[in-house]
Amino acid sequence: MDAAPPFKTTLHWSQLLRNSTRLVKNPIPFHHKWFNKFGETLKFRFFNGTKVFLTRDPEFALHVLRKNHKNYHKSDVTSKDLGQYIGKGLLTLNGDEWKKDRRLLQPGFYKERIRKLYNGVIPQTITKVLQQIPQNTPTDIKPYMNQLAFEVVTHALFEMKIEQRRLEEIRQIIDSVQEHFVKKIRQPQWNFWRYLTGVNFTIDKKVLRIRTIMNALVEERIASGTSHEDLLDLMLNSTYEDGSKMEHARIIDELIILIVAGHETTANALCFLCYELGQNPDNLQKVKAEIQSLEDPLTPYEQLGQLTYTQAVVNETLRRYPPAWIVDRKALAEDQIGKEWIPKDAFIAVSIYELHHHPDYWVSPKQFLPERFLKPPPPVYIPFGVGPRMCIGNHFALFEMMEVLRQLALHFTLSPVSEPPTPLALITLQPEHLILCLNPADD
Ligand code: HEM
Repeated sequence: MDAAPPFKTTLHWSQLLRNSTRLVKNPIPFHHKWFNKFGETLKFRFFNGTKVFLTRDPEFALHVLRKNHKNYHKSDVTSKDLGQYIGKGLLTLNGDEWKKDRRLLQPGFYKERIRKLYNGVIPQTITKVLQQIPQNTPTDIKPYMNQLAFEVVTHALFEMKIEQRRLEEIRQIIDSVQEHFVKKIRQPQWNFWRYLTGVNFTIDKKVLRIRTIMNALVEERIASGTSHEDLLDLMLNSTYEDGSKMEHARIIDELIILIVAGHETTANALCFLCYELGQNPDNLQKVKAEIQSLEDPLTPYEQLGQLTYTQAVVNETLRRYPPAWIVDRKALAEDQIGKEWIPKDAFIAVSIYELHHHPDYWVSPKQFLPERFLKPPPPVYIPFGVGPRMCIGNHFALFEMMEVLRQLALHFTLSPVSEPPTPLALITLQPEHLILCLNPADD
């Protein structure tokens, strides 16, 4: 490799500082403007001097996430800063520790297991929550989608029955931790103030509370002596390749990570899906027609496999509103990507949102057009990431969304009430609120 060239920033830190309040809520419009102005990969420094590459260049993105993934670990922001709150698990670990846990947990997501869940507990849970949404009344459906996704993960993957009160408490804690974490990263100039005023302490107490709740659930399971075919039993009973077992603290961490990663993303995507169905009733009608055109009596899982248009609606939702809108990495050693020299310890952020809206790869990227997914999408479509760190719950989530859509199409129509949802790009992309009217279908 040639001698290291100097790191020339394309964005000055003052531009970040000047816009920091608006960047906390939604950096996406800024990123978009800066990409259009300065090119496909932006370069700047964090306040601590770290060199940052923010990219929407497919070659760059795929190099980091897949081709040379061994040189790119999860960034310190994810593994240390986020890890401080959600613990050490699949989302935050690196290297051999990550590989061991991924191998141990992967069987929990095998096709056979998912098939069973989709022929049983999952459709039932979805029906129950959809029936709780008030009908013919303007309603903020975000809390319902949160509850739905939360219950699907906890019932299906962990066979846990968490009381409504506790569930609400956990959800509120997750929301406030997420908001705090994002402010800490995007407005580091206020971190000392957060420390002085006790904000950090309050958040730490909330995190401890979640761990206490999870610990009680695990203890309850151990004490019950019952066996379950779920991820918790998998963690309690399986051994790593070296014969050792997962430690208790790690089980709690993985539990929290799977619940957080598994419900937030899906809940947000479901909100945006409902918004688009309200805007585009024809799409919902086409889904209904597709379901009704299936001739043979099929199990729900078999049905989902045959619903091409329904899947296209889900895919288009994940393109237009990718819940995991950005992913980050840290370079372990220097590297070369095209003409770009990457120094050791550089922070790389790949904007999945921008890849999904790049006019070079998508016709009318801002429009909701499910038909575009009736043929294979371009390789820039990566709602679940790409490479070895790709989402472990991708099939689980896709089927969940399709099942919600199937039930909505068969039993309801949706009408928009409010303005388009204001997107909040925190760790995940979500609508601030979403007021819709859920109406029973005529037949
Ligand atoms: C629409 C829903 C979902 C979306 C869009 C999504 C997206 C993603 C993305 C983009 C990544 C890769 C992050 C990276 O490369 O840094 C990821 C990782 C992960 N996701 Fe998901 N996810 C979804 C649902 C789920 C569900 C249902 C679960 C579990 C029940 C889950 C668990 C995880 C875990 C544990 C990881 C870390 C995997 C690893 O590094 O080994 N996700 N997800």
